Order: sequence, then C-alpha cells, then structure tokens
Amino acid sequence: MAKVLVTGGAGYIGSHTCVALMEAGYEVAVLDSLVNSSADAIDAAGEIAGHRPRLDVADCRDESAVEKVITGVHPDAVLHFAGLKSVPDSVADPLRYYRHNLESTAVLLTVMERCGVRRIVFSSSATVYGEPDELPVPETAPTRPANPYGWTKLIIEQMIADVVRADPRWTAALLRYFNPVGAHPSGLIGEDPEGVPGNLMPYLLQVAVGRRPELPLYGTDYPTPDGTALRDYIHVMDLAHGHLAALEHLERSPGQLHTYNLGTGRAASVLEVIAAMREATGHPLPYQVHDRRPGDVAELRAYPAKARQDLDWSATRTLADMCRDAWAWQSTHPRGFR
Ligand code: NAD
Ligand code: WQD
Repeated sequence: MAKVLVTGGAGYIGSHTCVALMEAGYEVAVLDSLVNSSADAIDAAGEIAGHRPRLDVADCRDESAVEKVITGVHPDAVLHFAGLKSVPDSVADPLRYYRHNLESTAVLLTVMERCGVRRIVFSSSATVYGEPDELPVPETAPTRPANPYGWTKLIIEQMIADVVRADPRWTAALLRYFNPVGAHPSGLIGEDPEGVPGNLMPYLLQVAVGRRPELPLYGTDYPTPDGTALRDYIHVMDLAHGHLAALEHLERSPGQLHTYNLGTGRAASVLEVIAAMREATGHPLPYQVHDRRPGDVAELRAYPAKARQDLDWSATRTLADMCRDAWAWQSTHPRGFR
C-alpha cells in the first residue's frame, strides 16, 4: 500500500483529498498546523473512509518538526496543500504571505530531499494566469499573477521546477485549480471559512443558513451574456480525484515535471450560481448589486484537455451536484466545525 503525507490535510481541499486517497487504498498521514482548520475535519474524514488518518499538528516552516514527521511516516509522496490562500490578506500583508508560503515549501522540499522523498504534488492555482489573453486557458498561457498570493504560487512552481531540473530523482505535478466548490456528498466535511467569506459559494451558503442577510454581487456590467463574471467551478471531489490521477502519473514518469489545469472547461456566471443554489437550498438568496471587485476578471475557464489526455481524468460533477453537496454540509453544520 502506498503511503502519502498530506500537508494542509485538515483544510478544505486537503480533507476531501484525504478521503479520496483512503478510499483508493492509500495510507494517509496529515501534517497541519491547524492555522485555518480544525482537527474535527480529520475525525470526519476518518468517519467517511472508515479509519482516521494520522495527524501531526506541526508547521511546515518548522524544519525539525517536519523532519520528525517525514522520518516517522516514510511517505512515498507528499501532497502539499499547506499555505495561506486569501487574496485580499496577501495584498494587505504581502510579506506575511511571501514568508509563510515560500518558507513552508522551501523547508518541506529541503527535508524531503534529505529524507529521500522526491515525489510531490503541489496545490497551485489558476490565479497564476491573471487576466488571460485566450479562453479557455491552456497550461501554456502566459503567467502574470495580479496579487502577492498568486505570486507565491508562481514562485513555488518555479522552486519545484528548479529542484526537478537539478536532480532527475525528483518528480512533481503542479496542479492549477480553477474554482473549487462543493463538499463530500455525506455532508460530513466541507469548506469552513473564518469570518466573512471572501468567495461566492461560501457566502451564498451563509445567506442560506441565515448567517448573512444578502449576497453582495460584485459587478453586473461585464461583457458576458448576463453581465456577471464567469468562472470554472469544479466540485471538490472531482478535484480530489485529480490528485489521485496525478499521483499515479508521477509513478509512471520519474524525473519529470508536469503542470495541469484542473477545471471542468465550462463556466457559470454569478447569476447562474445563485439560481443553482436557490434550487438546491429552497432559499430565495437575495443579493445587492455592487461595483466590480478590484482585480476580478470577466471570465476564467480552463482548457482541461492535457489532464484528460495524460491523467485520464476529467471532472464529471455538475453545478447542481456542487450546490447540492455544499448544502448537505452547510445545512447540517451552519457554523462549520465550530
Ligand atoms: P485551507 O486553508 O482550507 O487549507 C490549507 C490548510 O493548510 C489548512 O488546514 C491550514 O491550517 C494549513 N496550513 C497553512 N499553513 C500551514 C503551514 N505553514 N504548515 C502546516 N499547515 C499549514 O485552504 P484550501 O482551500 O483547502 O486550499 C488548499 C491549497 O489549495 C492551498 O495551497 C491553496 O492556496 C490552494 N488553492 C485553493 C483554492 C481555493 O479556491 N480554495 C484554489 C486554488 C488553489
Ligand atoms: C467568483 C465570482 C466575484 C463573492 C478566488 C481566488 C483565486 C482562487 C479561487 C485560490 C467573482 C463574485 C464573489 C461575493 C460576488 N483561490 N462574488 N460576491 O475570485 O474567481 O477566485 O478563489 O487560489 O485565487 O481569487 O472566486 O468565489 O471569490 O468569486 O459577486 O461575495 O463571484 O466577483 O465574479 P475568484 P470567488
């Protein structure tokens, strides 16, 4: 049985990926500082999969702690989700973001190298593309992040590429996620943002459970069919299975670096998401129109053919599935894990 270490495995995408990994027969260990998550997510992932993964509460920037975990676990590969992810926080405090995300990864890679663990899957983001010239966006599109968070992702991609180039015993996959939403269909795990949600789907869910009166809708004057911005929303369980496919591909391709878009190739507008969430929740979901949010683009949509071809993976779940499963989580956990 293959063993994997999941950094950030108590977080939103990490916890769903842990479930998919355990269900596929992997032995899973999690390293998470719990800076933006709860150990309850690990208990719940264990409940879904039938056994609880090992959890070490540690920070990726703490070299001796990371070394202790890696020597204790002896993983065949590392899935690296750990990091800070708020775009506005990164704009307000860029040095915190650069230090946190870059140092976490540099320390992790250093310890992996020292321990002879040279296989990594990294959580990158479509945010590395910034404002795209062409749609859908292929992996070959120019990268020009529009905020410090996006720059940390791009610099980490470069860091990993250089490590692979320097030593052919390394192999890595850089996964550029589009807009992950939804939850495990059990409703036992899901997205659990602290404070006011910055993203569309968690905000709508908090309106649906009565925590917020209405959605602020940012921009109805985009050059799109209904005037609201278009995004490629992907179900978090499709994303989780994309990680499994990437891990398997790494086994087949030592010495290589792969970059994949993980998206559906389809886009939905903000108004379409609201309509789908109304259908799933039965809530009227009122909204108030505001000006465009600074930094937002009119449309972002993946060209996902490379992942389909190399990994034999594609997203299968619909927007209705995403809304139904997100609601299964939020309606049973109106305050998340708190
Ligand atoms: P999340 O905040 O729910 O999960 C991140 C996890 O990492 C949390 O459990 C947090 O406690 C942990 N963590 C943070 N810094 C750490 C450190 N230094 N050491 C150990 N643990 C640490 O976020 P998520 O939405 O699950 O995102 C996971 C990854 O995917 C992140 O790297 C994020 O940048 C990336 N990503 C997310 C999205 C998205 O929309 N959610 C899109 C693209 C990429
Ligand atoms: C979607 C649409 C908003 C909130 C972000 C990050 C990106 C990636 C995924 C990590 C936009 C509109 C939103 C609200 C709204 N994360 N909206 N009211 O901006 O595409 O991507 O998450 O890598 O880096 O930037 O996602 O969900 O914030 O917004 O009208 O309260 O919903 O303007 O058009 P985004 P989002």
